[in-house]
Amino acid sequence: MREAAYKEIVSGAKDILYGNLKIGYATWAKENYKYISPSRHHYPHQWFWDSCFHAIIASHFDLDLAKNEIRNLLKGQRADGFIPHIIFWRREIAWREILRSLESYPTLFPRTSQLIQPPVIAQGVEAIYQKDHDSAFLHEMLPKLVAFYNWLYFNRDPDKDGLISIIAPYESGLDQSPSYDPVFGMYDSSVVVPTLVGRLVTFRNMVTNYNLERILSADYFNVEDVLVNSIYLKNLQVLTKLLHEIDCEETARHFYYLYTKGKESLIKKCYDKKEAFFFDLYGKDEKAAKVKTIKGLMPLILDLPEAIAKDLVKKHLSNKDEFDLPYPIPSVAANEPAFIPDYKTVFREPVLWRGPTWISTNWFIVKGLKEHGFNEEAEKIVERSLALVQKSGFREYFNPFSGEGYGAKNFSWSTLVVDMIASK
Ligand code: GLC
Repeated sequence: MREAAYKEIVSGAKDILYGNLKIGYATWAKENYKYISPSRHHYPHQWFWDSCFHAIIASHFDLDLAKNEIRNLLKGQRADGFIPHIIFWRREIAWREILRSLESYPTLFPRTSQLIQPPVIAQGVEAIYQKDHDSAFLHEMLPKLVAFYNWLYFNRDPDKDGLISIIAPYESGLDQSPSYDPVFGMYDSSVVVPTLVGRLVTFRNMVTNYNLERILSADYFNVEDVLVNSIYLKNLQVLTKLLHEIDCEETARHFYYLYTKGKESLIKKCYDKKEAFFFDLYGKDEKAAKVKTIKGLMPLILDLPEAIAKDLVKKHLSNKDEFDLPYPIPSVAANEPAFIPDYKTVFREPVLWRGPTWISTNWFIVKGLKEHGFNEEAEKIVERSLALVQKSGFREYFNPFSGEGYGAKNFSWSTLVVDMIASK
């Protein structure tokens, strides 16, 4: 049964990833490009964390495609190490494009954005390396990854506590998450305000010329985000391992140090003992943004003290009032006032990450649960994720009660279920 489901899912994943390929020549970059778009029409450009997931999925059936996905993403890397969250290989004129342009500078129609996304590229490279142990590939990739993670550390950790700051909600990949409502001083469940205010932040960043020092010292959006930092720290750990593989011991030590320092700060500063949950910190004075979202479970991907991991699972993940819904894991706890399980739009733009279930966050949590020995809980999420795509197809996100699919169709990263089943 599992074998049959796996075959079917892999064949569905192949159709989607190959079907979403974009191939061409970008005159502005004087480069050929070839990448998998998240969804052909809805999301036509190359997105950072999407591409890392695509590489992980493709590593199961087409290593060349997987390697190409990472290589194409790295074509957008700047000389200082920064990698943008979107590369606009080919412009498409549409309302949504103008909004996306506001995530960037210096022109209204930029070629790359000036924002980051959850830095999961080391895990992307690791997934590929685990399949063919091609050390030439590691030698090619690691200097670029080292430059990128160093860029994050040197430019995004103003208080040097080992946790990096994001400067816009879009940087977490969880665009309108209610975890940012307290940052904007709003506590009701309106969906209009977060959508508008989020864009206002990116607009303000644009007029500040994307000068990080000025943005961070102005303190209007300086968030030490639990999801971004859990992924950052996990990837520093993975990078350390990969560097050992090619005998770069000194650099490996440097990243291992950053990893331990960051993990210590995450537990010390973001973990609320009374609530037994992790919350984002915002502003220079590091106030906790106390909204229970999927982010608070993300530290499970790290080697946390077992007591903390157990509390996250027993008190929250397995709590029917919060995250244990028929199709878990909702992006917001069901008992939060901001929780909206279905599809909402503002000015015809969908409002994202305020309740529905997404496959990418399930993928992370499954990995974390397994690492902490919560195999039954992990298995349940794998089964429910599979049930979701079998019921509604590879949609962008899903209703956590009914499993109804929303947003883009043939959405590439929802095929991460392939990796979830393969590593069962
Ligand atoms: C949405 C998601 C973001 C993703 C992008 C492309 O903006 O919130 O995380 O990278 O779509 O799929």
